[in-house]
Amino acid sequence: MGSIVRKKIPMSDFPPPTPRWWLARLPAVFSDLAADIAPGMDVKGGEGDYRRIDGPGPEIPVTPDARMFLRWWLPVHHAWPCDPAKTARFVEKAANAVVRKFGAHRPKALLAGAFQPMARGGYFRKLASNLRGRAIQVMPEADARPDSLAPDDPVVFIMVGRTGLFCGLRTPCQANGFHPGGTRFIRQAGGGVPSRAGAKIAEALHHMRLLMEPPPPGSHWLELGASPGGMTAELTRHGHRVTAIDRAPLHPSLDDNDRVEFIRADVARWKPGATRRHDALLCDMNGPAAASFAEVVRLSDCLRPGAPVIFTLKTAGADDFAKITDSHRLVLATAARAGLRHLQTTHLTYNRREFTVFFSR
Ligand SMILES: C[S@@+](CC[C@H](N)C(=O)[O-])C[C@H]1O[C@@H](n2cnc3c(N)ncnc32)[C@H](O)[C@@H]1O
Repeated sequence: MGSIVRKKIPMSDFPPPTPRWWLARLPAVFSDLAADIAPGMDVKGGEGDYRRIDGPGPEIPVTPDARMFLRWWLPVHHAWPCDPAKTARFVEKAANAVVRKFGAHRPKALLAGAFQPMARGGYFRKLASNLRGRAIQVMPEADARPDSLAPDDPVVFIMVGRTGLFCGLRTPCQANGFHPGGTRFIRQAGGGVPSRAGAKIAEALHHMRLLMEPPPPGSHWLELGASPGGMTAELTRHGHRVTAIDRAPLHPSLDDNDRVEFIRADVARWKPGATRRHDALLCDMNGPAAASFAEVVRLSDCLRPGAPVIFTLKTAGADDFAKITDSHRLVLATAARAGLRHLQTTHLTYNRREFTVFFSR
């Protein structure tokens, strides 16, 4: 191990040479749209949610419209197709190869993940963890964890599964996430609030670090479409204050939460006072996207300059690629006219057939 020689190369050589192909994570909820999202995508190949997209070049070969359907992507700079379970000393050999291939680029982190973490009783998840551990023994300077990374830090992302080992050098910003595969396991907020949405906002806050500084604890959010209150509860768990509006009630567990002001109303009829100011706005209202976004634009007047807006773009009623992308374009055009700066639209792990759109005012 100690005999591995790492050439010194300047950081201007980052990223490394053109990849031959890409690994893209296509959420299962969009697998029916694969042919529109990336016509060259190998839908039958790959493992779990991960697909192969052929095409050299510094950027993944999908159109800007299509990118929001992909959860995460990686140029494959190094591949070792094999069955790790049947390969003698796989961890040792794979770690050596990673260090030899990427060491000279001085990555801040070596992060390993499994295509299907729960397959074969968690075998590949454990394998990924052992592989990272072994590689870091050789390159202790690359021991950063996802939470301590900056969006532009160079990272070697390593994916393993029954088809072998696949690695690429990227920044979290370029790969669209701090974690291999983009996913971060989020524990649901306690307090008995019956909503999966808590994990959605927790993940959105984490993802926001790629785009801007998230609002600090104590910030005052305006939340549109809050019932039953999974996101409200999660925001207060992070130390935020929330003015939550919905025509349906919040879960009783939020009744005594003194960080929550609840206004039971139709958002479209609610008029804020002239002095009302918020540090962030969140909208998870259901119904037609254009109508929900019109309320976001109207109420963004209550925001301080630079405040983030997180909008869930629902796709109910828009079942094909063209209808979804048209609805998205309409939202972006409305935002631009209203002076909201679009930061990114992405699909997060806890989203169903919907997207999370980030703006700043
Ligand atoms: C998907 S749910 C929100 C879930 C919520 N984010 C959570 O964390 O539990 C959508 C909500 O939007 C609310 N909604 C939709 N249109 C509304 C409107 N015009 N005024 C008030 N609430 C509205 C619905 O009542 C519903 O509770």
